[in-house]
Amino acid sequence: MKIGILGSGDVAKALAGGFLKYGHDVMLGTRATAKLAEWAAKNPQGRIAGFADAAKFAELVVLAVKGSAAVDVLHLAGAANLAGKPVIDVTNPIADVPPVNGVLKFYTNLDESQMERLQREFGSARFVKAFNSVGNAFMVNPQFKGGKPTMFFCGNDEAAKQIVRGILDQFGWEPADMGKAEAARAIEPLCMLWCIPGFLRNDWVHAFKLLT
Ligand SMILES: NC(=O)c1ccc[n+]([C@@H]2O[C@H](COP(=O)([O-])OP(=O)(O)OC[C@H]3O[C@@H](n4cnc5c(N)ncnc54)[C@H](OP(=O)(O)O)[C@@H]3O)[C@@H](O)[C@H]2O)c1
Repeated sequence: MKIGILGSGDVAKALAGGFLKYGHDVMLGTRATAKLAEWAAKNPQGRIAGFADAAKFAELVVLAVKGSAAVDVLHLAGAANLAGKPVIDVTNPIADVPPVNGVLKFYTNLDESQMERLQREFGSARFVKAFNSVGNAFMVNPQFKGGKPTMFFCGNDEAAKQIVRGILDQFGWEPADMGKAEAARAIEPLCMLWCIPGFLRNDWVHAFKLLT
């Protein structure tokens, strides 16, 4: 597939590596292409562009930018370039304040998630929340003694979710479909939970697993 990744940070680069590994075409989108010069040198098959060109190129869009910048970035990408496309929303709505006893602060609340806001603003894009509940080092082929970890995902469009389920399979996850966009109210705060051992004990090596 043609993957347009909006972002130039660790998540964008980690997921780009996964998509390239499995033979997808990847274009990273950023406001500042110079930031990705080193990545480009190491990944000659990958392409780098502005947000709009990356969105236009994409059959599948990945949104991997600072949570509070997500709306602006999607506007820069252009609603027309996103229309009808599946968009994996990796963002977390983390407020710009330090954690309290290891607990991050979100600027959203439990009645409305980041992804629901994005879905409302960009109605013709098909958002799927995924990959937000683990650190970027484990996004592709995570290896844990406890076995294959679970990636919770959700979104309103079933076909878009099937595409994301396929990517999760490919990247070595056990996909767990939590239903419609409202489920992001529960999936996004998993980021807070995932980070607590990190902030308290510098332990960042773990992932969630759903036992049945
Ligand atoms: N780090 C992790 O391990 C991890 C794990 C799970 C989920 N997440 C979530 O994934 C997202 C990306 O995280 P990250 O750590 O890779 O990077 P980040 O530092 O949170 O975000 C960097 C990206 O945000 C864009 N950005 C920042 N401020 C902006 C603004 N004012 N206007 C437009 N764009 C702006 C940057 O655009 P330019 O390229 O143009 O500079 C860059 O592409 C975040 O929402 C984060 O919460 C992170």
